[in-house]
Amino acid sequence: MALGFGSRLWRVSASIVLLFATSTTSTTIEDGKLFTVNGISYYGGGTAVSKIVTSADFSTTQFNADIVPITIIRTDDAVLTKDSLKDIISNYSDSDDVFQTGFLQSVFLLYDGAGRSKADISSHQALQKFGSKVVMASPRYRPEAYLTPAKLLHDLPKGPYFFSPQTGEVYQAFRLYSDHQVAFTEGALSDGNGGFKPLPAAASGAMTKSVAVPSRLYYTPTSKKPLAGLRLGVKDIYHIKGLRTSGGNRAYYDLYSPQNTTGPAIQRLIDQGAIVVGKMGTVQFANGDNPTADWVDFHCPFNPRGDGYQAPGGSSSGPGAGIGAYDWLDIAVGSDTGGSMRSPAGMQGLFANRPSTGAVSLDDVIPLCHALDTAGVFSRNAATWSKVLHAWYQNFTDYREYPKKIFYQDSSFPATNTSAGAMLEEFVVKVEDFLATKREHVNISSQWEKTHPSTTAGAINDVLNTTYAFLVSVDQYRSLALPFYADYAKKHEGRRPFINPGPLARWTWGQNNGGDAAFTEALKNKTSFKNWWETDGYGKADEKTCSEGIYLYPYTQGDTQYRNVYFSAPTAPPLGFSNGRIAVLAGTPDMIVPVGEVAYNSTISLKTEYMPVTMSFGAARGCDFMLVNLIEDLEKAGIVKPVSTGSMMYPS
Ligand SMILES: *[C@@H]1O[C@H](CO)[C@@H](O)[C@H](O)[C@H]1NC(C)=O
Ligand SMILES: *[C@@H]1O[C@H](CO)[C@@H](O)[C@H](O)[C@H]1NC(C)=O
Ligand SMILES: *[C@@H]1O[C@H](CO)[C@@H](O)[C@H](O)[C@H]1NC(C)=O
Ligand SMILES: *[C@@H]1O[C@H](CO)[C@@H](O)[C@H](O)[C@H]1NC(C)=O
Ligand SMILES: *[C@@H]1O[C@H](CO)[C@@H](O)[C@H](O)[C@H]1NC(C)=O
Ligand SMILES: *[C@@H]1O[C@H](CO)[C@@H](O)[C@H](O)[C@H]1NC(C)=O
Ligand SMILES: *[C@@H]1O[C@H](CO)[C@@H](O)[C@H](O)[C@H]1NC(C)=O
Ligand SMILES: *[C@@H]1O[C@H](CO)[C@@H](O)[C@H](O)[C@H]1NC(C)=O
Repeated sequence: MALGFGSRLWRVSASIVLLFATSTTSTTIEDGKLFTVNGISYYGGGTAVSKIVTSADFSTTQFNADIVPITIIRTDDAVLTKDSLKDIISNYSDSDDVFQTGFLQSVFLLYDGAGRSKADISSHQALQKFGSKVVMASPRYRPEAYLTPAKLLHDLPKGPYFFSPQTGEVYQAFRLYSDHQVAFTEGALSDGNGGFKPLPAAASGAMTKSVAVPSRLYYTPTSKKPLAGLRLGVKDIYHIKGLRTSGGNRAYYDLYSPQNTTGPAIQRLIDQGAIVVGKMGTVQFANGDNPTADWVDFHCPFNPRGDGYQAPGGSSSGPGAGIGAYDWLDIAVGSDTGGSMRSPAGMQGLFANRPSTGAVSLDDVIPLCHALDTAGVFSRNAATWSKVLHAWYQNFTDYREYPKKIFYQDSSFPATNTSAGAMLEEFVVKVEDFLATKREHVNISSQWEKTHPSTTAGAINDVLNTTYAFLVSVDQYRSLALPFYADYAKKHEGRRPFINPGPLARWTWGQNNGGDAAFTEALKNKTSFKNWWETDGYGKADEKTCSEGIYLYPYTQGDTQYRNVYFSAPTAPPLGFSNGRIAVLAGTPDMIVPVGEVAYNSTISLKTEYMPVTMSFGAARGCDFMLVNLIEDLEKAGIVKPVSTGSMMYPS
């Protein structure tokens, strides 16, 4: 770029001349390419995963592009015929959303059986019908005039790829999906070096990003990598190496550089084979905003259920909306401090858990309250959910025998002559039958009245009214707001960053109503509740079944929460004591399970639509595996059912 500066160059300051003199190199990164194959958008990664070595000269063949689709077919058929080939191709199509017959433009045959294989002329004719221009075959295939002998420099799993006919380089194929529910904050790709980079590609979509998913055919779960190939979305409060974290705040995203480490919770999922495909939307700093007025900094993700204009719940709103909407996404990690996993699970009708506190390390995660924060997983079925929890949490015992007690508080349940009430009652009866027991009617308030610790006087609703509110508002102010304010001010001449009304009101409330002293008292009350729940409440341990009983309560009852309804401005953290607070204060697991859906007349679509009904399962602290095993067994027995994506959980 030495040309064209003209005489103006001579007038620039000495320091800029020095800069010109010292910066001698510029960098250009090859960041992959976009492809459209039969109308579908793909991304072909910038880093080659292998190389095809062949003496054939592809420049004379009909490829008219630098990089072309290819399918690696692996088989142990000693004779590859038209029929076995068609079988393989239909299996690839059925089990993978990335593969399509457009990738058969070129084919590489790899033989995995014993001895040598013959690719029958009929298989070649079948491939030609699929549009194959070149069929390469590894040296273990008998030479035939219609096969191009070739080798792979590094072995590759079967599936669709892109390759360069000129250089032989092979790239993984990613399908690009538009994030039409605004569930993601950023798409991500492995940087091939233990970290990630923002996805440098987008397909079409109105104000939406794209998310790239690799072929499912690349991955086979093993005992070491039980989660191999599971596509994972991560709430954008978890730090991931190479990516910025937003915490749902624009200033936070811009202020801090890309993270240098992936926190241990997410790293453990990656190590077991899960594929991070992006960061997902969160209520700002994992608090509790309502759409749409509270979501000032970013737009709230869209719940796919019902008319598509109901709140997704929060704070793990993006993970909940994404798992409710996208078949191409398998699992999503969120967090739960006061209901942030459970609320989206309820609003979208999903399987999701708040684990026992301490289930997995929360280092390198934006905190809300260290004593209460937990990490959980969303899934559309209990089998996948259970697999992930078992692979993820290290410190729980795998109980396979279940409690004989179901604790049931009548006042928690809706009348059985309502649609949701009838559904929940039918479900409780099925769980009773499954466990061969009958519910035990309990009343937490009166039990507390009778047995509460002498140091904590008063009705349970009074004692625990502000406990959660102080724990979250004071801890997050100290551990997040203050350092963030200071870092931001240093970089922006003393300015304050923008904070959404919800978290700002919570921090202010905590400071104005008692601050650190109230926090200390709250921690004491939390501890006495936990001790009481474990001794005189309904969270007692049991040697054989981990927990004395299962505590059931309804989570959502098919209620609507329209996005276009304005709420009053937030003023304080949530007050009061309710079923949802038990696990928070006692550190016990609370798992949400879909039960059914109830009809409502939408004021938006002017049609009958459906919203989820869900049940919550609680147990003693540390009994997470017992609970998820039970729920997985309930799914096997047909009592709990996997849910679909889209407007209905159970479309007929
Ligand atoms: C195709 O899938 C079916 C069902 O999963 C399986 O039985 C069959 O062996 C598969 N065929 C090939 C060629 O992989
Ligand atoms: C990552 O490391 C670099 C170099 O040490 C540092 O400048 C940067 O602030 C670190 N990023 C974060 C988010 O801590
Ligand atoms: C799990 O248990 C080990 C050994 O007791 C302990 O060192 C570790 O901190 C525990 N992990 C968590 C997340 O509590
Ligand atoms: C349900 O039953 C109660 C009495 O138990 C009655 O008051 C109420 O109106 C009934 N509701 C419906 C929707 O039938
Ligand atoms: C539960 O106990 C409380 C406190 O004793 C009492 O006020 C309430 O009416 C009881 N609830 C039910 C449904 O019996
Ligand atoms: C909870 O605290 C708020 C704010 O201090 C107060 O207005 C409310 O009456 C309290 N409720 C109970 C049940 O103690
Ligand atoms: C703690 O419990 C006491 C009663 O023992 C109650 O007066 C106080 O309001 C509670 N405070 C918090 C912050 O939980
Ligand atoms: C919807 O509206 C129709 C007509 O007013 C009514 O008959 C029906 O009961 C309503 N359905 C629900 C679920 O509210």
